[in-house]
Amino acid sequence: MTLFFSTTPYHEQLGDGLVMKSVATHGDVERLAAFNAAIHDAQVDPMTRALIEHHPHTRPEHWLYVEDEASGAIVSALCLIPWTWRYEDVTIKAGEMGIVGTHEDYRRRGLIRKLVARFKTLLHEGEFDLSHIQGIPYYYRQYGYEYAIPLEGGWHIQMHQIPDADTDEVPRYSVRRAALDDLPVLMQLYNDAAQDLSISAVRDEAVWRFLIEHEPGTANQSEIWLLLDHTGTLVGYYRLDRFGFGEGLNVMEVSRLSHEAAVALLRQLKAAAIERKKPYIKLGAPTNTALVQAARCWDARDTGRYAWQIHLVDVARLLRKLAPVFERRLDASPFAGLTQTIRLDLYREAFDLRFQAGRLANVEAVGFTDGGDLRLPPLLFAPLVLGHHSREALQAMYPDVSTWGQMGYLADVLFPKVDSFIYTIY
Ligand SMILES: CC(C)(COP(=O)(O)OP(=O)(O)OC[C@H]1O[C@@H](n2cnc3c(N)ncnc32)[C@H](O)[C@@H]1OP(=O)(O)O)[C@@H](O)C(=O)NCCC(=O)NCCS
Repeated sequence: MTLFFSTTPYHEQLGDGLVMKSVATHGDVERLAAFNAAIHDAQVDPMTRALIEHHPHTRPEHWLYVEDEASGAIVSALCLIPWTWRYEDVTIKAGEMGIVGTHEDYRRRGLIRKLVARFKTLLHEGEFDLSHIQGIPYYYRQYGYEYAIPLEGGWHIQMHQIPDADTDEVPRYSVRRAALDDLPVLMQLYNDAAQDLSISAVRDEAVWRFLIEHEPGTANQSEIWLLLDHTGTLVGYYRLDRFGFGEGLNVMEVSRLSHEAAVALLRQLKAAAIERKKPYIKLGAPTNTALVQAARCWDARDTGRYAWQIHLVDVARLLRKLAPVFERRLDASPFAGLTQTIRLDLYREAFDLRFQAGRLANVEAVGFTDGGDLRLPPLLFAPLVLGHHSREALQAMYPDVSTWGQMGYLADVLFPKVDSFIYTIY
C-alpha cells in the first residue's frame, strides 16, 4: 500500500478494541469511501475519493476514522475540510466538519464525541477561526455549534409560472458547459458576485480547477454552465447541483446578471427542467441575486432555509481579526471616534474590547466575570457576530441575552444583520 508522503498518520487507542486513525494510505481512502457510501449515499464514495486525492486544500491527516481492531473495519468517521472565507475585507479560516457517521452497531457509544475532540485539536493547531457543518438538526449543539449562515432551501418556481418568450422574439441568449479555458472569466464573475455578500467563500484558481476538472467524472457533484448573449459574449454563469435535496432542478449558484439575462436564464432553466423531467426549479442562491428577484416577480415560493451550524474556535482571535469590519461600522455611525471598553460576556468567559479613537486597540479574554455590557449564552455569539440574527431578535427570544442603557444601540452598530451565503468549494 502506498503511503501518502505528505501525512503524519494519527493513531490513538480508544479502549474496547477500538483505535482512532487518520487516512494514511490509498487503501485507507478506498475503505473510508466505501464506509461513507454505506452510511450516507452511493455518491459519497466518489466524492470522498475526489476530495482526499484531488482537492487542493484537503489533507489526509484531517480524515479521521475509528477502526475495530478485531475486524479491521471502519466503524465511525468524519473529516475536516479547510476553506477560506471572506468577511467583508477580512480573510478567515473555516474548517468544515464533513461526512460524519457511525456504523449502526456502534452508535451512541460516544465515538463521534471522541472524533470531535480530535477534530477540535486540529482546528486549534491549524489556527482556524471557525468551523461549519451542514449537519442534522440539534445534534451538533453539544459540540458548540449554532445555526448562523443561510444554507440550502430557497425559492421554488414551477414551469407553468415561467411564460414562454414571444414567438417572434429572436432567442438572444444561449448556454454552454464551462471548460478550463473559461476559468479566468468564471473567477471574475464569482468574485464580482461575492461583492454582494458580506460573508462569502473564497475560491482560488486551484479550487476552480477542481470544480471544473472533476465535472465530467463520476465524482462530479455539479455542472457549471455559462450564459452567453446573442454576440456570444459571456454574461454570467450558474451551477447545477446533481445530487442536492429534493426532486427539482437545483440551481446552487449564480453570478450577477442583468435583469434581461436573469429572465432569459429562467427560460433556459425551464427548458432544462422539462428535458430532465424535473417537476420544478429550485433556486438555492441568495435572495438578493437578480435571478431570484426575477423569479419572485413570477411568484416563486420561498420554501425557507436551513442554516450552516457554526462553532467559533477562538472568540478573541476572531474579534481581533474582524477589527477592520468593526472600525468601519463605527466610522459610519454616530459612534465614530469611540473611546470605550466594551465587555462582551458569554457567561463562561468574557472579552474586553478596548476601542480607542474609533480603532479596536485590543481584545482581551478576561475569563469568568459577573456581568458585562452585552451578555449572551456562548452559542448565540456566532449568529450575532456573523450577522445571522440581530441583537434585538436574539434578545426577544432569550431572556439571558441582555444589554444595558445605551449599549443596545452600540451593539447594533457593531453587529448588524448582513447578507451572507457560502458557495461550496467542491
Ligand atoms: C448521528 C450519528 C453520526 C451519531 O453517531 P454516534 O457515534 O452514535 O454519536 P455519539 O455516541 O458520539 O453521540 C454523542 C452523544 O449524542 C447522543 N446522540 C447520538 N445520536 C443522536 C442524535 N441523532 N440526536 C441527538 N443526540 C444523539 C448520544 O447518545 C451521545 O449522548 P451522551 O454523550 O449523552 O451519551 C450517527 O447516528 C449516524 O451515523 N447517523 C446516520 C448518518 C448521519 O445522520 N450523520 C450525520 C450527518 S450530519
